[in-house]
Amino acid sequence: MESQLDEIRRSFDQELGQAREPGDIEKLRIRYLGRKGRLTSVLRLMGKLDPGERPRIGKISNELKAYMESRLRALGAELTEGKEISARLDVTLPGRACRRGSIHLINQVLGEIEDLFMDLGFSVVNGPEVEDDYHNFEALNIPPYHPARDMQATFYFSEKTLLRTHTSPVQIRIMESSDLPIRVIAPGKVYRSDSDVSHTPMFHQVEGLWVEEGINFSHLKGVLEAFVHTIFGPDVPLRFRPSYFPFTEPSAEVDIGCFICGGKGCRVCGNTGWLEILGCGMVDPAVYDYVGIRDESVTGFAFGLGVERVAMLKYAVDDIRLFFDNDLRFLTQFS
Ligand code: DAH
Repeated sequence: MESQLDEIRRSFDQELGQAREPGDIEKLRIRYLGRKGRLTSVLRLMGKLDPGERPRIGKISNELKAYMESRLRALGAELTEGKEISARLDVTLPGRACRRGSIHLINQVLGEIEDLFMDLGFSVVNGPEVEDDYHNFEALNIPPYHPARDMQATFYFSEKTLLRTHTSPVQIRIMESSDLPIRVIAPGKVYRSDSDVSHTPMFHQVEGLWVEEGINFSHLKGVLEAFVHTIFGPDVPLRFRPSYFPFTEPSAEVDIGCFICGGKGCRVCGNTGWLEILGCGMVDPAVYDYVGIRDESVTGFAFGLGVERVAMLKYAVDDIRLFFDNDLRFLTQFS
């Protein structure tokens, strides 16, 4: 019987050496230690042994049983863990590509606009987004009863403090703090309580201001023509249409020829053949009074344009909210 036990141990060791996965371990356990297993069958014969032999053989077989159990447990754990590691880590997989970001379309267009005006000798200045009523409205000659001050359009923090509704207050701040001549653009975020296909509560404007002795409306026309032809193409027609702003006199709005219908009239341009792109005019003398420019030979012009509107027209985007939804399917088209 002793030699039978020896034989069992040898074949167990050999089969164990061939086990490759947790399932093999379970099969071995059944084959050797199960109810009909090889060791179990031998142990059943214990009763037939000579009583003097029983303790010794009993000890040997108990040791063998313990040995088998511990080997099965150890190798089982090893194989299970190995399987988990290889499930977690497949070194043959290709590396994960890292998606590269790109500059947002609005910032691209802003950059283009800044470059173009810097080429024309303008410098870029900034102003605060949290403004006071004086710079946002009063000094721009916007009277207290003006609808632009309406609670519905303006985000107020308090009666005197608000989110700027346009970049025009930067005109005031620059004229208050700089010596002449002034030739600046002021790009930035502006805020209005408004939301639909052509309005978002935050959008971007670029303000322009050129104040210097002898500046007249033809300078304004020349600068804005350069702007339109650089951004939209040299063949795009533009027109100056009389308009009204409290801080400019005379005032105008600039339209460009509708790129959808080529000027014939369509839904996009409301059958006019023209698309409005910006407001402008000669700085109103009332504004000079507010900022303390007293020299009457000093004149200047200002303009303000919406960056999203320029981007929408240039890239035929029909919903302004797309710019801020952060949907990569939209954004990557412009990367
Ligand atoms: N601030 C105006 C607006 O937000 C735009 C504007 C019009 C700016 C005429 C100007 C200007 O500088 O001269 O609607």
